[in-house]
Amino acid sequence: MKLLGDWKRSCYCGEPRPSQVGQELTVMGWVNARRDHGGVTFIDLRDRSGLLQVVFNPQINEAAHTEAKDVRLEYVFAARGVLARRSPETVNPNLPTGEVELQVNELRVLNSSRTTPFPIDEETNPAENTRLRHRYLDLRRPQMYGNLLLRHRLVKSVRDYLDGQGFLEVETPFLTKSTPEGARDYLVPSRVNTGSFYALPQSPQLFKQLLMVGGFDKYFQIARCFRDEDLRADRQPEFTQIDIEMSFIQPDDIFRLSEGMMVKACRELKGMEIPTPFPRMSYAEAMARYGNDKPDIRFGLELSELTNLFRATEIKVFSDVVAKGGVIRGILISDCSFSRKEIDDLNPLAQGFGAKGLAWFRITDEGWQSPLAKFVSDEKKAEIETALGFKKGDLLLMVADQEKVVCDVLSRLRLHLGDKLGLIPKEEFRFLWVTDFPLLEYDDEAKRYVAMHHPFTSPREEDLALLATDPGQVHARAYDLVLNGLELGGGSIRNHRLDVQQQVFACLGIKEDEAQEKFGFLMEALSYGAPPHGGIAFGVDRMAMLFAGAESLREVIAFPKTAKAVCLMTQAPSPVEAKQLRELSIRVNV
Ligand code: AMO
Ligand code: AMP
Repeated sequence: MKLLGDWKRSCYCGEPRPSQVGQELTVMGWVNARRDHGGVTFIDLRDRSGLLQVVFNPQINEAAHTEAKDVRLEYVFAARGVLARRSPETVNPNLPTGEVELQVNELRVLNSSRTTPFPIDEETNPAENTRLRHRYLDLRRPQMYGNLLLRHRLVKSVRDYLDGQGFLEVETPFLTKSTPEGARDYLVPSRVNTGSFYALPQSPQLFKQLLMVGGFDKYFQIARCFRDEDLRADRQPEFTQIDIEMSFIQPDDIFRLSEGMMVKACRELKGMEIPTPFPRMSYAEAMARYGNDKPDIRFGLELSELTNLFRATEIKVFSDVVAKGGVIRGILISDCSFSRKEIDDLNPLAQGFGAKGLAWFRITDEGWQSPLAKFVSDEKKAEIETALGFKKGDLLLMVADQEKVVCDVLSRLRLHLGDKLGLIPKEEFRFLWVTDFPLLEYDDEAKRYVAMHHPFTSPREEDLALLATDPGQVHARAYDLVLNGLELGGGSIRNHRLDVQQQVFACLGIKEDEAQEKFGFLMEALSYGAPPHGGIAFGVDRMAMLFAGAESLREVIAFPKTAKAVCLMTQAPSPVEAKQLRELSIRVNV
């Protein structure tokens, strides 16, 4: 092992080109591969920029060649030498530096490495737990560097854009107040204030509203958020938002601003030109056509409403469901070549999505085919064929249940079928605004209304009177931005008037004294001339994931957590010392 001494790197490994042949270069990095040929040692040296072939030839420098003998994979070294052109038959067309190599005349081995648990290259796909356990090694892989570089550029593109639009970046606290509604909070005990807790912010929502009361007019923040919720591929316990708030605006101002931001990011990062304005669809339409409020509009297979067509058949599962207030909906696949087995396999899939079963019909040369076909009269069949354009070769898949279940199952089945049938153009980006959300939804467990977005969302002005009489019918001035079936962001116009905010709290069953205790600071602020305001927040991790074409947020987060909210590298969360708990007056009871 040697010291680096006064050596300075002259370039990254991935940079040398034939125009530099003859120059003396100093490169530093990790051993990616080594080959010994006829007494000469060839090493691919790697850094974040790529690979360079460095050559140890005893004819050029005996000592360096001898030292290179002991160098193994992932050893770190610095090498100084002269850049040479490779002979034509040894040119590597797959490497940007493939026409050149460094003829080393001095080597400084700076560190050794144990054998790594997985090879550091583009080809191997190690188990994810192994990657996460040794994330620092995983980060050496070019894909991970590429993903994080993309994320860096994405955030820079957004920052530059918002700065150009007159937005001010302001930081808001991490140690804040626990408030009801939303996901579960991560709590932080206060040592100084025994028995009291901070909460890590689920988002900077209230602070950004208070910045508007403070007259900042245009705020943004690349903000870390924390939510103790059930995790999935597109959810992490801590994640990052592009958080935005503006005063004296309408939803259209938010749409224009957001579209400009997305168009710029797509142009700069994907070389894509996205047309504006982005299409808009009401929540009701999205639910009816796709069964979900974040539809992937890259393909069809829209849902069909079938309750009236099928209620009067002899099919008992259908009539029972309809009698109980349920609905029947389906997906019609034209010219479907599924085998009987393929159709049968969809049944357990639908059950896995929450259906009691999946009914199907198809029309073959012999007419209607299905275990249920005998329960449908010829007259009815003709009526259904005309109503749906159901014809020979088509397959109709159906679910009968309560509306929520039907929507949930069919929307997931639709995605499955789109994928299976190869209907989803993977390279396309299709943005969609979903608008006109209900303000509230009824929570059967809690037996009360809960906010569909959050309790600070403004009702539509024309619906204000309904707040007292029929809260379920009130629409919100809220909107989500969806990209390829993923919710990228959501926001709303807020309640800037105290009386309206108090009415919404009342609808949510939040009593006056509770509102005072939890949100007193907000209500007080609203009483001091709060301007009309609204905003939106986008998930940076989700954007980066879609831009990178990755399947999971973990691919675009340097140090992510597993679905059980564990960091496999540091083993967080972990027990703490008894002394730490005593200082906090906390006793663990497990
Ligand atoms: P919302 O809760 O919809 O709105 O969050 C905004 C966006 O943040 C991303 N996101 C997540 N990303 C990764 N992991 C998670 N667990 C996670 N949760 C949310 C999504 C989502 O669209 N304060 C409001 C915004 C506003 O009203 O202005 C808010 O937080 O991309
Ligand atoms: P069963 O009478 O339970 O044997 O079901 C007959 C057929 O109807 C099977 O193909 C089931 O998968 C289907 N089925 C059962 N319940 C439902 C439902 N709620 N919606 C749609 N199809 C169903």
